[in-house]
Amino acid sequence: MDRSEMSRSQKLALRYLTAAVTLFGVMIVFGLLAAAYYVYPSLLYNVFNFNNAKILHIDVLVIWLLMGFLGAVYWYLPKELEHEIEGMWLAELTFWVFCAVVAVVALVFIFVQYGPATEWTLWFINQGRKYVEAPRWASIGVVIVMGVFAYNVVATCTRARRMTGITWVLALDLIPLIVVYLDAFPSDPNMSRDLYWWWWLVHMWVESTWEVLIGCVMALVLMDVMGTSRKIVETWLYIEVMLVLGAGILGLGHHYFWIGTPKYWLSIGGFFSALEPLPLLGMVVHAVYDAGMHRLKTGNRPAFYWITTEAFLNFIGAGIWGFMMTLPQINMYSHGTQWTVSHGHFAFYGAYVCGVIAVLYVVKQKTSGTEFLDGRAWKWGYGLLNFGMVGMVMALLLAGMAQAFIGRAEGGSTLMAFTVASENPWFVSGMYARLAFGVIFALGYATLVYDLLSAPRRLPSLQVRAEAI
Ligand code: HEM
Ligand code: HEM
Ligand SMILES: [Fe+2]
Repeated sequence: MDRSEMSRSQKLALRYLTAAVTLFGVMIVFGLLAAAYYVYPSLLYNVFNFNNAKILHIDVLVIWLLMGFLGAVYWYLPKELEHEIEGMWLAELTFWVFCAVVAVVALVFIFVQYGPATEWTLWFINQGRKYVEAPRWASIGVVIVMGVFAYNVVATCTRARRMTGITWVLALDLIPLIVVYLDAFPSDPNMSRDLYWWWWLVHMWVESTWEVLIGCVMALVLMDVMGTSRKIVETWLYIEVMLVLGAGILGLGHHYFWIGTPKYWLSIGGFFSALEPLPLLGMVVHAVYDAGMHRLKTGNRPAFYWITTEAFLNFIGAGIWGFMMTLPQINMYSHGTQWTVSHGHFAFYGAYVCGVIAVLYVVKQKTSGTEFLDGRAWKWGYGLLNFGMVGMVMALLLAGMAQAFIGRAEGGSTLMAFTVASENPWFVSGMYARLAFGVIFALGYATLVYDLLSAPRRLPSLQVRAEAI
């Protein structure tokens, strides 16, 4: 398919996915920088500190994944409903607004960095809430973009007079997805209350609403690249959604152990979040079942590999790594160590990054042709990204365990114990190893981008050769 043959919504999807991949790169740059401070603590001292590098790293993460999801939905929705998207001009406009907002906020984070503890700072510099630090004006912008997106989805469903199981789940999921984002705004001077509500946003996004969204995307990709029947993917989707919501909502309690909330959260959070791996296990069974049914036959191997990897690593990174420290008896020692960071990386990567990369390959196949999916570059990208991530996660796990055992259990959580743990060889070598594996991950990213971009350039020469024959 040539670009000129693409529908408007597909072109918009391509734009969103391009922006997502670009920001993925920005995120890696700031991740590497943040990792470098652990090894060279005086790096860029008082010019650009760790906290700002980390803010850029994790805020960009949230934004590029959202852009990836939007791209995936704009790509698939018209085909799913057999109807072009309603209100395309609004969607096209908000894309540019979204990009402009992200660019301005990034510049503010890099050059202004912080402000006095006033309302003005909340509005224009930093809201101070982890993962959603963007100042208030920009957060309102994000709400508008998501509102337009929701309007596009709902209006298209209404106009098309057609709803599939997947579009029902998707449309209904957008309500809590946007509503919990509104939670990014209030700033309560009471730290316990503030954290209490902030967790609604962070936990409900990544462990409920985003999981449902990626479940929809996974269903669409599986139908597309494996030819799996709609009945099968929709049945699995319902089961997964039921389990995600069943365990995920009260699973929120695993963040209420130590923030000053009542004691009963220890048992509620421990019990329900221990059930959270179940839906993720369902996804693995689903992917393996489909692969078996179709004897691994697929027209798009990269997308198939990435979506299967998504199912497995979502289960391992979120399910197993999360389960490891979700009981209060263990969390008491692991909380706030690099152990948590290990899980954070593995879960985000497994659940969402792999899924978005699968969509990138679906789009690549449609824009450049199937013959470009067989090269070597995608395998290198796949290998380096996974190797880099698993290496980083293991290094962080070792470093985190050293902190938990030495700083917490033995040392009794004092500042001195923290310092002793930070000098422990397991911790220190973990920090070096994380940086090294981070570089491998970055190489994997570069290969991925090379592979995504190289096909269209090779197209004309192949056509010439074909004509010559
Ligand atoms: C080159 C690759 C990367 C490097 C070197 C890197 C490094 C870092 C560093 C140093 C931090 C700060 C941890 C702390 O506060 O001690 C961090 C936080 C974080 N990164 Fe990365 N990162 C990389 C890639 C990624 C990717 C691909 C993802 C998502 C898929 C990700 C998600 C996160 C998250 C969620 C946090 C916050 C974790 C927490 O505070 O518990 N990072 N990263
Ligand atoms: C895709 C799904 C998931 C993602 C992306 C994810 C990501 C994260 C991130 C980034 C954090 C660090 C938050 C912070 O303090 O900044 C975290 C914390 C945590 N996650 Fe997950 N998670 C997922 C699923 C799960 C599951 C299924 C479980 C349990 C079975 C779990 C258990 C935990 C626990 C207990 C913490 C708190 C760690 C602590 O601060 O002591 N997570 N998660
Ligand atoms: Fe959680």
